[in-house]
Formats: sequence, structure tokens, C-alpha cells
Amino acid sequence: MAVQSKFNVGPWKVQGKVDYQKLISEFKVRAVDSKIKLRLQRIVGTPHLFFRRDVVFAHRDLDLILDDYESGRGFFLYTGRAPSMGMHVGHLLPFFITKWFQDKFKVNVYIQIADDEKFLSGKNYSLNDIRKFSYENILDIIAIGFDPDKTFIFQDSEFVAHLYPLALRIGKSLNLSQLRSVFGFVGSTNAGLLAYPLLQIAAAMLEKRRCLIPAGIDQDPYWRLQRDIADELGFYKAAQLHLKFLAPLTGIEGKMSSSKPEGAIYLTDGPKEVKRKIMKYAFSGGQPTLDLQRKLGGDPDVDVSFSWLSFLFEPDDQTLGRIRQEYRSGKILSGELKDMLIARLNDFLSVHRSRRDDAKSLVNTFKATGELSAKALTTIHE
Ligand code: TYM
Repeated sequence: MAVQSKFNVGPWKVQGKVDYQKLISEFKVRAVDSKIKLRLQRIVGTPHLFFRRDVVFAHRDLDLILDDYESGRGFFLYTGRAPSMGMHVGHLLPFFITKWFQDKFKVNVYIQIADDEKFLSGKNYSLNDIRKFSYENILDIIAIGFDPDKTFIFQDSEFVAHLYPLALRIGKSLNLSQLRSVFGFVGSTNAGLLAYPLLQIAAAMLEKRRCLIPAGIDQDPYWRLQRDIADELGFYKAAQLHLKFLAPLTGIEGKMSSSKPEGAIYLTDGPKEVKRKIMKYAFSGGQPTLDLQRKLGGDPDVDVSFSWLSFLFEPDDQTLGRIRQEYRSGKILSGELKDMLIARLNDFLSVHRSRRDDAKSLVNTFKATGELSAKALTTIHE
């Protein structure tokens, strides 16, 4: 069941100020502690920034993934996206960390484009519209830089035949009460959405090895069900890395969402639009007047620009520490904090745009068509 206290985290809605510590106990996941970070460091060197900044804040079975790696059995990665008109910066977080794991451990990555889920859970878009979004979103995903030889991007409405035999077995092992209690389905939920989880769960069992899934914590209900039935079907329980949400510009509550444009920076936003949105909407922890800001300082803990810098846009720990301290003391003003974010975001987006252009010629290389996927699947099941 989605957590229902002051905040709410579920696959189709995230509301309120998320208390991540509380989620750890309610979702029965484990905090990413210094012990597991040190182990990761011993194996691959400095962990990704998201570990240092606690953006990856919880996990299940990361220790078993590392055991499997060290014993030579190996593992695979899986993540996904329900395609919408435009991807925003927050959507990239799980893809960044997935790529990092692929680079470090040289493993296969499967990326599910859940056009079916978007069609069934969203409003007003035809399946054709969503297929167009899928293409655009795939460009953004390829632009992250995955290894073309080890990455399979598949779109459910095309690839379903390859997942269906597994989905049928999963479907037989789960009942309506389980789906209801995990997803909160009610009498008016459409029948398509009732069945969709079988496909998201199936992709966690594409290889006879343990799967590691980096994703926002809102996706957890799927993984809880996968773990309930994995043994019975002869697969490993999937491991997860749970990420925090990048806040919407409008305040540190909920998650940045494509359906709320004033809170989101889309990957296709140009420099002027980025500046306009941040100047207009980015919630500030500063004081109402310049004098008061100089005297009392700002509050970085509620300031969205600071939060985005600390998630990923200021990778240097010392610089971030200095910004925090100077903002608190009143030396830096809210406008200056916004300027820093605008500059870094625009740098990032300009590189992304050019990589996205290059991705157009790579779609066929990455996309698992029936034939390609059949080849990949035979290899991996051998
Ligand atoms: P979707 O398309 O809503 O989101 C894609 C991924 O982005 C994460 N996410 C965010 N992360 C940080 N900050 C945000 N503001 C933010 N908003 C979204 C989501 O948690 C997700 O990891 N059902 C899925 C599609 C899917 C999938 C998967 C996701 C299919 N298979 C396997 C992860 C793993 C969905 O609707 O994601």
C-alpha cells in the first residue's frame, strides 16, 4: 500500500515532503550505510557522487550483488521509463547511476520503455502519440552513453511477445488481493493497468542471474511483488538501489513531474527557458529583502536551487560546502544561487542536446527488436 502519512509515495503519485527515513522502515528496505559504501569503494574505487550525496539512500541486496560479482557469477542491470512528451532532469537520475554501474562492472543493461503503462495510467494520449514520445525519450536515454554492445532498450508494445511467457507465469502466481494491497487498485481501475505490473516484474527476470534495479523509490511496489514470487518461479529475488526524488522547482515537496511544467526543467529546454523558469519558479530559502538576507542569511535546506546543486550540479564537495555556508551567512544571495544553477544546468543541457542529436543514428543499435532480443535472450539463458 502506498505510504499514507503526511506524504504519499506510490508508482503513479508522489505527494508531500517525503520522509526518506520513514520510507526505509515502512518499505522494509536498508539504508545505504558506510559499510556498503566502503565495500563498493574497495571493489571499484570512488563510488558515484550519488552515494556521497545520499541520493542513493536505500537498497535491497546490494551486498548479494557484490558477492555475485566477486564470485564470478555476475549480475545484470534493469531500469525503465514510462514515456511522456518530454523527459525532465529528474528522470535521468536512475539512468546516470545505471550507466556508472555498467561502466564499473561491465554488465548488461535492460531498459524497459513502458509505453503500455503510460497509455493505461495517463490521460488523453493515443497509443500512437505515446510511441512518438517513446522515440524521443529513447534518444535522451541513449545520450547518457550506455555501452551499445551490452544495452537492450525494449518498448513493451513491440517487445511483449518476448516477455509474455514469463508474464503469464508471474500472473498465475499473484492474485488480485496482492495487487490491490501493493498498488491500491480499486474497482474502477482499468483492466489493462491491473495486468501491467506483470510486464514490469518480468523484465527483472530476463537473465538467470541476480538483477540490480536502480530506480526512484516510487517503483518499489513492483519489486516487492517480484521478490514474493521469484523463488517459486526459479529466479533470483531482484536487488534494488532506491533513489531520492529531485524536487520540483516550486518547492521541496513531491517529485519533479512532467505533468507540472512550472516545476520541471525538460531536457529540451533552451538556455532562455531554463533561466526564465528558475528565476520565476525556483523556490528560494532566502529572506524577503536584501538587507535581511545579508543580516540573517538564507536556509539551504528549503532552497530548491541549493538542493539541485547538492544532488548533482555541484560535484565538488568543498565548493558545495562553501556555497552552503556562504548562503547561510548572507554572503551569497538567492539570485546568485539561482545564477550558479542556471549556468551549470545550461552547460549540462547543451552537452546533452548534442549527444541526443548523435543518438538519432544509434536507435537501431540499442533497440531490442524481436530478432535482436531473441539473440540476446538465447545468449543469456545458455
Ligand atoms: P517514470 O517514467 O515515471 O520514471 C522513470 C524513472 O525516473 C524516476 N523518477 C525520478 N527520479 C528522481 N527525481 C524525480 N523527480 C523523478 N521522477 C521520476 C522514477 O522513479 C523511475 O525510476 N513504471 C516506471 C517505468 C519502468 C521502470 C522499470 C522504472 C518500467 N520498468 C524499471 C524503473 C525500473 C515509470 O513510470 O517510470
